[in-house]
Amino acid sequence: MRVTGAGGVDRSALPAGRAWWRGATGYEIYIRSFLDSDGDGVGDLAGITAKLDVLDRLGVDVLWITPFYPSPGKDQGYDVADYIGIDPAFGTLDDFDQLVQAATDRGMRIFVDIVPNHSSDQHPWFQQAIADVDSPYRDYYLFRPAAANGGPPNNWVSHFGGPAWTLDPAGSGEYYCHLFLSEQPDLNWANPAVMEEFREILTFWCERGVDGFRIDVAHGLTKDPEFRNNPQVREITLGMHPKDVFASFDHVHDLHRPETTKIFETWRTVVEPYDAVLLGEMDVRNIERFTEYVGGRGLDAGFVLKLASSRWEPATILSDLLTYERAALGGAAWAVSNHDQPRAVSRYGDGQVGVRRAAAVTTLMLALDGITFLYQGDELGLPDAVLTGVAMDPVSTRNGGVAGRDCARGPVPWDSTAVNGFTTAPVAWLETAPLPASLTAAAQIGEAGSTWERYRAMLDLRRRLPDLWSEPFEIFDRQATSLVIFRGPLTVIANLDDKAFEFVPEGEFHVEFESYAGAVGGDGGHLRIEPEATIVLSRREPDGRAIAESAEVTHGHR
Ligand code: GLC
Repeated sequence: MRVTGAGGVDRSALPAGRAWWRGATGYEIYIRSFLDSDGDGVGDLAGITAKLDVLDRLGVDVLWITPFYPSPGKDQGYDVADYIGIDPAFGTLDDFDQLVQAATDRGMRIFVDIVPNHSSDQHPWFQQAIADVDSPYRDYYLFRPAAANGGPPNNWVSHFGGPAWTLDPAGSGEYYCHLFLSEQPDLNWANPAVMEEFREILTFWCERGVDGFRIDVAHGLTKDPEFRNNPQVREITLGMHPKDVFASFDHVHDLHRPETTKIFETWRTVVEPYDAVLLGEMDVRNIERFTEYVGGRGLDAGFVLKLASSRWEPATILSDLLTYERAALGGAAWAVSNHDQPRAVSRYGDGQVGVRRAAAVTTLMLALDGITFLYQGDELGLPDAVLTGVAMDPVSTRNGGVAGRDCARGPVPWDSTAVNGFTTAPVAWLETAPLPASLTAAAQIGEAGSTWERYRAMLDLRRRLPDLWSEPFEIFDRQATSLVIFRGPLTVIANLDDKAFEFVPEGEFHVEFESYAGAVGGDGGHLRIEPEATIVLSRREPDGRAIAESAEVTHGHR
């Protein structure tokens, strides 16, 4: 038994060993919308603790909890005013300790979300930086003189619209850099004092028993020392979505700097004594960049973000999955949804079609090395939320109401009472249309044939059949929209096509899982895999001998 730190967490229920997270299943909790335990309309830490048994039953190994730190909430907590505290809206440090212990007792681990690229402008560091230009905190941020014409120092833009520079409110005449809101000033990672601060912050949470960090905007930490303009790659037109304006530049000087990976090497030395995992959110969009982060002594893993925003384009989805599987060497974190994008069910076509497609891709992700995350509500088959009140996402509110991220952030529908049982307050912090009984946890948990039960069986695959992610990954057949993989005694068939697919397994086999009921049929040794399904077979000889090697497939059979 190992007991760590101030939280005094008893960890005896957790398996030991290196790289324990490979083959694990994670679950992203968007805390504001998970469950409100105290009736203020905002989800909280005690709400998570109250539902641990449900998450345990679902088969979750790791919970990633979005920021719960004291924050003015301009970017829903991604504007941190104190990195080692808890915002009263979410509870107290005692609530946090109780959550960690209760999760640990169930064999689950906690990842916290750490936001190192920027703080809140209300953080005491920034307050001192603007109060006194000679303060040591001035150099915690990126203050630069104005350009010759008095405008911003260079052409960098904010992800959330407008320039990435705002004039020092204290009137020094300098601008400060912010890749997100002006209330989220970027930290200066070229200043070793910032690393020292984060060394303490990381240690604080490790000592409280966390097992990993989801690192927000991990690709942004260091900037060009000369603050050169980014090359513009296309024209910017009036009314363009801020996301598109941002994508109109090649971000060679404000993102993806080689110095950033060095910073994570130092982070690794801080967290290694605790076996804590560094999991980056890197918006890389290309595999070479991805492996720079996860291939060395820096991050353990990174999210393959592209897959959490893609539409239903099966050929692209499959090729992205295989590209990252091959190159990430186990360092991939897979997810079809997160709190920043429309939900997979809606991106893939809504309704039962969207649910079916999301289940097929998620099943395949569970058959890949690395860690696979669900986003809260994936297991209920939730589509995007429909807003009935005001928008809360600054992407919308600061840009004349353009599409934002609120649609992914609706409260979890626990049951069919008011506000779907999320809160006892009259309304949730984000007002959304009530969801039908069929989409609630109350209706689905324990109900044969429900999406929740399908996901429980899906997650159970990784525990029941660890060969699924650990045995050599052998591609038996690869077509544009279908894939047959052998993993030791297991065969995984992903048929993302809109036509059925035939497969003739050699020897005895058993269907371990199908991503929807009736996805696999056939006779006379021919298996028929229906469209948009992933199935898992185990191949067994009657006497239990090694499995046969040969098999046949027929494509596009109807
Ligand atoms: C990440 C978060 C997002 C946040 C942004 C700025 O992309 O996932 O929600 O707005 O960083 O911190």
